[in-house]
Amino acid sequence: MTAAIIDGKAFAAGLRERVAQRVTRFAEQAGRAPGLAVVLVGDDPASAVYVRSKGKATKAAGMGGIEHRLPADVPQQALLDLVDALNADPAIDGILVQLPLPGHIDEQAVTTRIDPDKDVDGFHPVNAGRLAVGLPGFVPCTPLGCLMLLKDQLGDLSGLEAVVIGRSNIVGKPMAQLLIAESCTVTVAHSRTRDLPSVVQRADIVVAAVGRPQMVKAAWLKPGATVIDVGINRTPEGLVGDVDFAGALDVAGAVTPVPGGVGPMTIAVLLRNTLISAERREN
Ligand code: GUN
Repeated sequence: MTAAIIDGKAFAAGLRERVAQRVTRFAEQAGRAPGLAVVLVGDDPASAVYVRSKGKATKAAGMGGIEHRLPADVPQQALLDLVDALNADPAIDGILVQLPLPGHIDEQAVTTRIDPDKDVDGFHPVNAGRLAVGLPGFVPCTPLGCLMLLKDQLGDLSGLEAVVIGRSNIVGKPMAQLLIAESCTVTVAHSRTRDLPSVVQRADIVVAAVGRPQMVKAAWLKPGATVIDVGINRTPEGLVGDVDFAGALDVAGAVTPVPGGVGPMTIAVLLRNTLISAERREN
């Protein structure tokens, strides 16, 4: 084993602590705590677990956490009405509608209804556009957490070859935008990429976000590469990432584990985004 293991859990704990300190200052000055509304539609067990841990972390950071649970068969209009009410509520700084939504609901219609200035998930097209052109806005939590880990590990990323595997709106595309902004040379690979191993071979930075257990093989990696594994795959052997972690330890320079790598960063960045929203809204 040669690779360093990137401790996302410890980094996230530090970030949550810094956020909590700023929340205290905010509450003293504003006379209220930052408020995050989390909306869960239906009873998908994985989503319920995420929503519960978001609620716990919100309260632990000294913020107000308001959870709204709607039945799986809720009409789309009722969900849009709830979003409108949260947009208009001055005590709410951040709104998060947990995805995926049931099939009868148009996810784009819902994410586009959220006030972009309360869109702490960064999923609204206005925030995607702001990121693309370099304006301040909200950046999706998971890719921003990945970038924080990369900068902590590598310092200046300028000129490095980065390969992002996955092109989702939630991770792959914003990750690529963030790395472009850091002056990396960025390749976005996906399911139609021809010869993925040779694309990965040139990467100083690999971000794997495909949702396929251990599909990135150690033999594909450039020796010394920094590997960020966004995958959380439930298998009979337990939770595994998108990267062959055990193999990568012998080739990579540094690699995130699953669990304990990227996962804890997502919630910590959500708290950070909510605090920043509250600070902006008071100023
Ligand atoms: N589902 C999986 N990840 C996320 C996330 O970061 N935000 C929301 N809203 N839904 C998700």
